[in-house]
Amino acid sequence: MTKNFGTTRRGETVTLIELDNGALSLEALDYGATIRALRVKNAEGGVTDVVLGYDTIEEYEANDGYLGALVGRVANRTARGRFTLSGREYTLAKNIGENHLHGGMRGFDKYVWDYELLPDGVRFTRVSPDGEEGYPGALTASVSYILRGETLVMSYEARSDADTLCNLTNHSYFNLDGGGDILRHALTLDAESYTETDAESIPTGRLISVGGTAFDFRREKEIGRDIASGESALVGCGGYDHNYALNGAQLRPVALLRAARLGITMELATTLPGLQLYTANYLSARRGKGGAQYGKWGAVCLETQFFPDAANHEDFETPILRAGGVWRHTTELRFGR
Ligand code: BGC
Repeated sequence: MTKNFGTTRRGETVTLIELDNGALSLEALDYGATIRALRVKNAEGGVTDVVLGYDTIEEYEANDGYLGALVGRVANRTARGRFTLSGREYTLAKNIGENHLHGGMRGFDKYVWDYELLPDGVRFTRVSPDGEEGYPGALTASVSYILRGETLVMSYEARSDADTLCNLTNHSYFNLDGGGDILRHALTLDAESYTETDAESIPTGRLISVGGTAFDFRREKEIGRDIASGESALVGCGGYDHNYALNGAQLRPVALLRAARLGITMELATTLPGLQLYTANYLSARRGKGGAQYGKWGAVCLETQFFPDAANHEDFETPILRAGGVWRHTTELRFGR
């Protein structure tokens, strides 16, 4: 089912797409290919909306934070907005100090995408022109959100007419209790190390072992247990805002998030090599859906991705999309209780 969700400042009509398979229901917007709501069954016999979002298109346009959006062309930071590809240097828009974040001044999250309804989901597509935000090549990106039982499958695909970088992710803010903070959510991450960052959250190129640090989620641990431990890597960004080097390759489960109160669990599987654990440290106090109050530590993002600033680190796999090639990745969220 589709509904009108208002009009952007530029005069474009925004559509809300509702999908419901009886086990899971999803609301998506063609603006930013955004997940606006995701309702799952909780352990008390009710239904909980487990993502943050807004009631109006005006709020999506005006607010920062990328709530539920598809982030691209390249998610996360690129140092000084610079990279070299196929022997040429490129300069990207700088939108976070001297660095590039989440696609630039107007990333994929701020465009109205084309959409197509599928039997069990929706596919969003947009063409990012050559040179947009400094990236080479006209890139056609698509993401499908598919409901399969209690699993939401997010499939990404991109093609370009010139060599370019591509690193698409979904920036949903999860709160499996549907409100309150996430400090008592328990998290397991299948990762032995994370990418060390400098004061601007740019990777230094080193991987740090999680053993004996606040970053160790190899065994289930409450997110809040060490978040305020004063460990230096956490202090600079007010909590977790770090990329984990995930174990394994191919589509495999890498994270498990467990609600504090409502018994909901979310298992995340991905084909991607990294995951940014972001505890909404910079989410300034604001009003969300239905008058809900959002703020710091009010949600957790699990952003599957290639490592940040990969193009500038020899040891990190760079998400290069060659002209004529296909960039294809999948992340799945499986709910239970
Ligand atoms: C980044 C944060 C950033 C946030 C924006 C996250 O993916 O890691 O540093 O502030 O997105 O909402």
